[in-house]
Amino acid sequence: MAVEIDLTGKTALVCGASRGIGAQTAIAMAEAGAQVILVARSEDGLKGTLQKMPNSEKHQCLSLDITKTSEIAGSVKSAAANCEAPVSILLCNSGGPKAGPLSEADTDQLATGFQAHVLANQALLEAVLPGMKSLEYGRIITVLSTSVKIPIPNLGVSNVIRGAVANWAKTLSMELASSGITVNNVLPGYTETERLDVLVEAAAGRMGKTEEEIVALWKSKVPAGRFADPSETAAAITFLASPLAGYINGVNLPVDGGRTGSL
Ligand SMILES: NC(=O)c1ccc[n+]([C@@H]2O[C@H](COP(=O)([O-])OP(=O)(O)OC[C@H]3O[C@@H](n4cnc5c(N)ncnc54)[C@H](OP(=O)(O)O)[C@@H]3O)[C@@H](O)[C@H]2O)c1
Repeated sequence: MAVEIDLTGKTALVCGASRGIGAQTAIAMAEAGAQVILVARSEDGLKGTLQKMPNSEKHQCLSLDITKTSEIAGSVKSAAANCEAPVSILLCNSGGPKAGPLSEADTDQLATGFQAHVLANQALLEAVLPGMKSLEYGRIITVLSTSVKIPIPNLGVSNVIRGAVANWAKTLSMELASSGITVNNVLPGYTETERLDVLVEAAAGRMGKTEEEIVALWKSKVPAGRFADPSETAAAITFLASPLAGYINGVNLPVDGGRTGSL
């Protein structure tokens, strides 16, 4: 097998594609030859990503709030009907839950997180699984957090929800492998996106430091000594989406510059 990421002929449903890691993944997958359906709420954001993709007329934007799970199946199916092939690549990715200690969270925050991540992922799965099975090829990839391995202080609700999604994915990886479908989780470390800006601002306020001090502190915790560019996370996701990664299944892959202190 040639060692080249080639997604020609494949349709990818990329969630969170209006900015950050999802946007870079939509671009990377298009560069690898995939036809991409870009999902997020912001139409302008999606159009901005589309403009950076090769063969932009080939791809389509789907403005959708994935917390409205009852709308997912219909919207995804009608977008996929205009594509050359059924969706065989699904990137489950959206915004992270609000920061704060779990002991100060209320039940609504946990329910909202579960709705936006576990239930949304399940609705996306329902929409694309028959097509993946018909192709005997599927790649389901979630974007989670290194908190799957080591809980992160002050991201209480996120820690709980990421763990639930990691278990969702692991369970599916065992159920679907015999259909040619793999399910893997990518765990970003500090990555230069709007999400990181929000977390830096919150930490600065909470710790009485400047944002520059927080950035320096966090970089000092990364063996690589820097934050990730979202295109680096996208490269890992695009590899996992490709035929090259066919025997990688049920893993949690940190893309964190070596920060996570566990095996
Ligand atoms: N950046 C980091 O340092 C870092 C580190 C660890 C983990 N992560 C996690 O990795 C994931 C991606 O990170 P990121 O930095 O790329 O995040 P981001 O910059 O906040 O982007 C999130 C994306 O999800 C979309 N989204 C949010 N809520 C949505 C909804 N209800 N329906 C549809 N789309 C929705 C957003 O688009 P719209 O607003 O247009 O809907 C946007 O495209 C997040 O879960 C984040 O928590 C990030």
